[in-house]
Amino acid sequence: MTQIKSVDDLMVAGTAYQRSMMIFAALRLGIFAGLAEGETDAATLAARVSADPRRLAILLDGLCAMGLLQKRRGKYRNGAVSREFLADGPKSKSAILLHHLDGWADWGNLGGRLRVGRKVRPRGGDCQENFIRGMEENARERADAVAERMPLRPGERLLDLGGGPGTYAWAWARRSPEAEVTLFDLPITLRVARKILSEKRATGCVKFVAGDFLRDPVGGPYDIVWISQILHAFSRDECLVILRKAHGALAPGGRVSIQEFLPDESRISPAGPAIFSVHMVAVTEGGQSWTAAEIGGMLGEAGFGKVKKGKPDASGVGIVTAQSR
Ligand SMILES: C[S@@+](CC[C@H](N)C(=O)[O-])C[C@H]1O[C@@H](n2cnc3c(N)ncnc32)[C@H](O)[C@@H]1O
Repeated sequence: MTQIKSVDDLMVAGTAYQRSMMIFAALRLGIFAGLAEGETDAATLAARVSADPRRLAILLDGLCAMGLLQKRRGKYRNGAVSREFLADGPKSKSAILLHHLDGWADWGNLGGRLRVGRKVRPRGGDCQENFIRGMEENARERADAVAERMPLRPGERLLDLGGGPGTYAWAWARRSPEAEVTLFDLPITLRVARKILSEKRATGCVKFVAGDFLRDPVGGPYDIVWISQILHAFSRDECLVILRKAHGALAPGGRVSIQEFLPDESRISPAGPAIFSVHMVAVTEGGQSWTAAEIGGMLGEAGFGKVKKGKPDASGVGIVTAQSR
């Protein structure tokens, strides 16, 4: 993300929600999926998606102005980015974008959240599906790279704690069929994970355990506990509960690997983790982006030693590892 350096940049940032909403409305109406079938005029598309033709034409023109659609002789078609990332397909980002739309009401209440006492509102089942499918879209490429870099030996037992859509669990299970991969998550999430893995014809090689890691046992013993993009949603005390649980589930000498958005010590850089931390204020009670040093400190308190802090990538995501003492 570029920094705001002029009044023009300021006005772009201040009105960015309008562009977001145009994308979300088009996604929810099925515009990009509809145009994937071929170029179409506004009236035909309006009939297909049950929209008002005049208003839809105005939205389509606006999406052309943003570069997401193209218009030729009164007919519209998807531009390159929409074709690849907004219509259905293996690189689609539609679920993660709709997950951001699900956060709209919470972000609208950000000012209230900064005052003491305003609670985050619970969300419904559709939101969970967008969330978990969105996590799958986010993790697809990274999961393969992580599983490649951290191969499992035959017989090794890995727990993917809060494994969500199972993207990491499946990446490991695929590469190391003789290892034992367990995905632990809430029942509401495992319902979506089962659907996603069966769509990939990937059921059977990952064991599912349903539960709440703040309250329930997580099974074990395991040789490795993988905790990806979990701690940022919880307060320090809750993180300690999770890390102690991971510690208790490990065999002697077992390892934990924590993947997170890691701001540096200044907390203002990289921009991704700094802004993601505000997102956590908007949508969770006690969450925030934790620095690698803070995670290292919590790991020490939870009984781990030999903490190693990996260098975050350009988006600010990095891995902290430690060993059970
Ligand atoms: C941001 S997602 C991360 C998913 C996955 N680890 C990844 O990196 O793609 C957070 C996950 O934590 C799970 N989760 C949140 N609270 C939980 C709890 N109390 N017990 C178990 N899982 C929980 C959510 O259901 C979700 O799958």
